[in-house]
Amino acid sequence: SSPEIAVVGSNMVDLISYIRRMPKEGETLEAPDFSMGCGGKGANQAVAASRLGSRVLMLTRVGNDIFADNTISNFANNGIDTTYVLRTAATSGVAPIFVDEQSRNSILIIKGANALLSPEDLKAAEPDIAKCKLIVLQLEIPLDTVYAAIAMGTHLGIPVLLNPAPAQPDLVLDKIKGCKFLVPNESELSLLTGMPVDSLEDIRRAASVLLRVGVQHVIVTLGSRGALWLNAQGEELLPAAQVTPLDTTGAGDAFIGCFSHFLVQTGDIRRALIQANAYAGDSVTRRGTQTSYATADEFARIQPELKED
Ligand code: RIB
Ligand code: NA
Repeated sequence: SSPEIAVVGSNMVDLISYIRRMPKEGETLEAPDFSMGCGGKGANQAVAASRLGSRVLMLTRVGNDIFADNTISNFANNGIDTTYVLRTAATSGVAPIFVDEQSRNSILIIKGANALLSPEDLKAAEPDIAKCKLIVLQLEIPLDTVYAAIAMGTHLGIPVLLNPAPAQPDLVLDKIKGCKFLVPNESELSLLTGMPVDSLEDIRRAASVLLRVGVQHVIVTLGSRGALWLNAQGEELLPAAQVTPLDTTGAGDAFIGCFSHFLVQTGDIRRALIQANAYAGDSVTRRGTQTSYATADEFARIQPELKED
């Protein structure tokens, strides 16, 4: 059966250290705990959408090391089509992550094979991408590949969602204006527009710039405050679930994977955003990135009541 969502993006192996504080230069410090899991923004978003029941095609590059087999079997175990999970003569992407006792995280990414995902790789996958109803992108692969995927979406008439993360100073606004959905967090929005984001009013003003260049829907993720959705018709702040966070790593990806799933299944943006807030909120109550994402059955038990307005 044909895929519904194409994720063109990264995969990383997350090496998560749970620490009391960062060591100073020259200092050796003991930390209480460690866990290793599959991550990378592209893979995380793909896994969230697939666990919820969407058919997902993943275009990504893994290395030729011990991490690669693990990553490929992880995709397969999560029901993701691995035809376009390409092996590369390079190291796999890895992300050393540090989570402190206040559940704040610091993340280093070493892109490895992800830096070699090329516009040619994209072109080779076009016949299958053409069957999808949504293309999902982030910024852990070369910008040229991101731009080529946006152009491909436009050419094929498939809506494109870009999560401009991690913040990338070289990103050219003019080349992403064809995206139907742009989903930045506050700091990414600020970098993208060169504007302050200190208040909701600031955020509105910055997001309006993106609407003016041609993006149809801007969704600004605001962490524990929820998400602000803006388009030509107006705006709405959709509040986040009230939870006690244990580990917020990958919550943004949970949001996007879940949003993509419900968007493709229902076509209802508002409803997809409400579900995405609930899904991301649930993920922060568990440790790790993909390890904290609920399956469709698990999510069905905590799903929000959908009030019609
Ligand atoms: O968004 C969280 C992700 O960012 C982690 O899984 C890590 O791999 C980095 O890519
Ligand atoms: Na989590």
